[in-house]
Amino acid sequence: MTKKNILITGASGLIGKRLTEFLLQKGHNVSHLGRSAKKGEIPSFVWNVEQMQMDVSALKGIDTVIHLAGAGIADKRWSEKRKQEILESRTQSTALLEATLKNTNNEVKHFISASAIGYYGFDLKGELYDEQSAPGTDYLASVTRQWEESIDKLIELPLRVAKLRIGIVLSDKGGALEPMVVPVKLFVGSPLASGKQMLSWIHIDDLCNMFIHLVENESLQGAYNGTGPYAVSNEDFTKAIARQLKRPLFLPKVPAFFLKLVLGEMANLIIYGSDVSSKKIQASGYQFQFNTLEESLQNLLDKK
Ligand SMILES: NC(=O)c1ccc[n+]([C@@H]2O[C@H](COP(=O)([O-])OP(=O)(O)OC[C@H]3O[C@@H](n4cnc5c(N)ncnc54)[C@H](OP(=O)(O)O)[C@@H]3O)[C@@H](O)[C@H]2O)c1
Repeated sequence: MTKKNILITGASGLIGKRLTEFLLQKGHNVSHLGRSAKKGEIPSFVWNVEQMQMDVSALKGIDTVIHLAGAGIADKRWSEKRKQEILESRTQSTALLEATLKNTNNEVKHFISASAIGYYGFDLKGELYDEQSAPGTDYLASVTRQWEESIDKLIELPLRVAKLRIGIVLSDKGGALEPMVVPVKLFVGSPLASGKQMLSWIHIDDLCNMFIHLVENESLQGAYNGTGPYAVSNEDFTKAIARQLKRPLFLPKVPAFFLKLVLGEMANLIIYGSDVSSKKIQASGYQFQFNTLEESLQNLLDKK
């Protein structure tokens, strides 16, 4: 296996931290590009996406860029200003990378970007989505579609471009799992909204291994769904957490109108879901480390 020199953007986040550990373990060289310089052993470079400026020395010797940067979808309520930030932190950061790659001497050949299953939109029809499915029309689908359009421009440079449409990442270090686990632990857990909405989850270690699969297999290009082997309903997911924690679930479902009242439009993230297929990445040779939700929850919740 050829050792790669990889620059990761947004590497201080949930996925970037774990992915850095995995890439180093596999013998690759890693450096980071973020909004502030970080101390430590990993070389760290700075960019300012709003001002379209970046330290071009970040690209010296780099052959692969992994682009993860983006303002957190669920970090704050979706005001108009926040919605703009969610979009531009992705499209403008990609445009900055494109312009810098175009206008400097560099050896980058391969660009792998995070995308999201939000691309397919909030499912209302119970469909199974694969990489050929059309993009959705809601706000997040529109953000993801525009983000992917900005990524696809890099093909013209020319670069080998791959996009991983990431599902709901399960980790013991943050992200979506903790807010689902805490109420169950405190005996106040219950399914949300109809409970029927499908959650396309993925264990963070499988996601990192998928990124490595894309780094190391040079023929893989285009979009891949970064989801687990199967999706489950919100109700079944909540029950699986309760079983793992040996807690009862006795409260009624939390109604959708209440979630909307508390969270505003962002409640759509919880009220709706989608069933997204990982067949394409499996057909490319990827084998899951965690084949069931139960194995994933056991691995993550037993550590707590
Ligand atoms: N976690 C999930 O469940 C999930 C699901 C689907 C898709 N994704 C996508 O995968 C990517 C990585 O996810 P993650 O969970 O690791 O996210 P995260 O923990 O929120 O980290 C994202 C990183 O992006 C950078 N960032 C934040 N706001 C920014 C802004 N306004 N402009 C430029 N950079 C900014 C930050 O790095 P610096 O501070 O170092 O600049 C931050 O650590 C994201 O694009 C996310 O949308 C994640």
